[in-house]
Order: sequence, then C-alpha cells, then structure tokens
Amino acid sequence: MASPTRGAFIVIEGLDRSGKSTQAAILHSRLQGPEQSAKAVLLKFPDRTTAIGKMIDAYLRSQSELDDHAIHLLFSANRWELATSICAHLAAGMTVIADRYAFSGIAFSARKGLSYEWCRAPDVGLPAPDLTVFLDVEPEVARARGGYGEERYEQEGIQRGVRAMFERIGEEMNRDGQGKWVVIDASKEKDRVARDIWHVVESLAEGVDAPTAKLWQ
Ligand code: TMP
Ligand code: MG
Repeated sequence: MASPTRGAFIVIEGLDRSGKSTQAAILHSRLQGPEQSAKAVLLKFPDRTTAIGKMIDAYLRSQSELDDHAIHLLFSANRWELATSICAHLAAGMTVIADRYAFSGIAFSARKGLSYEWCRAPDVGLPAPDLTVFLDVEPEVARARGGYGEERYEQEGIQRGVRAMFERIGEEMNRDGQGKWVVIDASKEKDRVARDIWHVVESLAEGVDAPTAKLWQ
C-alpha cells in the first residue's frame, strides 16, 4: 500500500456547551500519543488571537454591535487567514483538528434569517475537512451544563434554530459527497463520547492518500 501523502483534516462541530473543546483536546492528545506516528495540531474557530478575531470576540461579548452580514464575513475571513497554514500542516503530514469551522458560520448566521446560499459563499474554496464530527445534544441538555448566557447566541431558542441548520448542512454534505459528516450523541458521558469519536477518526490517524479538496467546489 502506498504511504499516505498528507495528514487528515478533522472538524468537530456542535452547539455551544456540546463538549466540542473538551473532545477536541482529548482527540488531540490521543493523536499525539506515543503509539501514533502522526502528529496533530488543534485549531479553534473563531481564533480570537488575530486582529479579526479580536473584533469577533468583542462582538460575541456584546462590547460592539455589527451588521449581521459584516460579522458573518469576519468569521469567514478568520478562517481564510488560517487556510494557508492548515494546508501547510496537512502537507507536512500533521493531522489538523478544528474546533468549529465553516458549518458554524452558516448555521449561526442563516438562523438569523440571512440567505443560506449567501452565508455559504465566502467559505467556498476553503480546505475541506475529510471528516466532520457533529456532537449532538438537545439544547436543554447543553443549557443545563452551565456557563450558558455569558455570550451572544448562548440561549436555548437560538441554539434550537442553529441545530436545525446544522442538520440541513450535514444532510447536504453527505448527499453531495462533500466529505463525511458523522453525528455523535454527545449527551453521553465524556469517556463514552471520546470512544465514539475515536471509532470514526481512527482510520484517518495515519493520514490520507488524496489531495485536500476545496470546500463546496
Ligand atoms: P465558541 O464558543 O466556540 O468560541 O464560538 C463562539 C460563538 O461564535 C459560538 O456561539 C458560535 C459562533 N460562531 C459563529 O457565529 N460563526 C462562526 O463562523 C463561528 C466559527 C462561530
Ligand atoms: Mg461558546
């Protein structure tokens, strides 16, 4: 068998408080572990450390107001500013894990009433994930996990609408063969969810023998 040409690109998506950051960190350390030869890098969107990310952070903490279209484009620009480095990591054989990606971009903005097609357009052509793991929880379960209500969007009604958008995105991804979208029940206990994630990720841990696709192209 030919050796893989690049690392895999894995996205973890879900509602606020679905356990994404916890599970992304567990997956990251597992991929870095002594038995696996592949090294991994963990990214988080929004990346609040860049100049654009700081504008997004102020908006999320309600310290600034922005037109819905403007904040949508900032979230997208925040991904584009990391696109080259994602490709470089993959080419170097690293597994790239992203905690949220373009799917959050569409789901949160389209829920506000912006056109789905308009929301998708600025992310067309980004590096496409090989696998997206959607951590599914009922919005009331997420709310009960605490820490809710500190940021914009952390309200059960909003999260319910966002979840419906994610469902549509996932169905379309699988229908159009745009990289696998797998739904995992994230209401289970942490170690069980980590095992379920590993089950779908394991085959990608050694890398992928195909060029990185461009999202929605
Ligand atoms: P975080 O809680 O994962 O840091 O994300 C902050 C919020 O930003 C979260 O409610 C989801 C939202 N979001 C968008 O609205 N658009 C995007 O493109 C991304 C990445 C996140
Ligand atoms: Mg949050």
